[in-house]
Amino acid sequence: MKQELVIAPSILSLDFSRMSEQLKELAESKAAWIHFDVMDGHFVPNLTFGPDILKGVKKALHQVMDVHLMVTNPVQYADVFMDAGADIITFHVEALSNMEEVVALCRHIRSRDVKAGVSVKPNTSIDCILPYLEEMDLVLVMSVEPGFGGQKFQEQQLEKVRILRAKIDERNLQVRIEIDGGIQQDTGKLAIEAGCDALVAGSYVFKHNVKEAVETLLCQQ
Ligand code: DX5
Ligand code: ZN
Repeated sequence: MKQELVIAPSILSLDFSRMSEQLKELAESKAAWIHFDVMDGHFVPNLTFGPDILKGVKKALHQVMDVHLMVTNPVQYADVFMDAGADIITFHVEALSNMEEVVALCRHIRSRDVKAGVSVKPNTSIDCILPYLEEMDLVLVMSVEPGFGGQKFQEQQLEKVRILRAKIDERNLQVRIEIDGGIQQDTGKLAIEAGCDALVAGSYVFKHNVKEAVETLLCQQ
């Protein structure tokens, strides 16, 4: 069943010349989660944040820390970011060799009382994870190629959301469907209609008034 919609602003697009001001705006917003994109310059051609930044952001905010690992070695870095305070760890199926490894990492994350999320890039089929939905708390559908904010939403990715929503509801599971990339007012609405209950939004939130942008997205349901 769909859960209450959450908005997860991605701090990748935060204006770092006004960091404390922007963190304050996030703290006062209706965003329930903060999306924290970790890139290692190898799994994706960009570098972002390490665990100390997560610790700092966590001190300034009360929200759930939704960590998206875009790294080649998620087994190593899941623990690093759980130690730093992650509440959700999402990693990519493409970074591991097979579904046994994916399931093992989900179980390890859950054994530490952290929510486990699994993500697929736009060119990866969702089929491989469908038999294992019980093992995870969240599926993150990438609606852009991971690596950079500000890309165009790939509407065809919504088919994966529809398939997931049908399977999750059929099996009566509490697995969230999150979408990441190109989310703004209109694409957010389409994603919610397809079955998402968590929206990541980077450039849309930080190019506008943070609090208003979060509320606009919440109103699309
Ligand atoms: C892309 C990241 C996203 C990114 C989304 O690799 O995973 O979380 O911040 O940015 P927008 O919302 O600008 O597409
Ligand atoms: Zn992300």
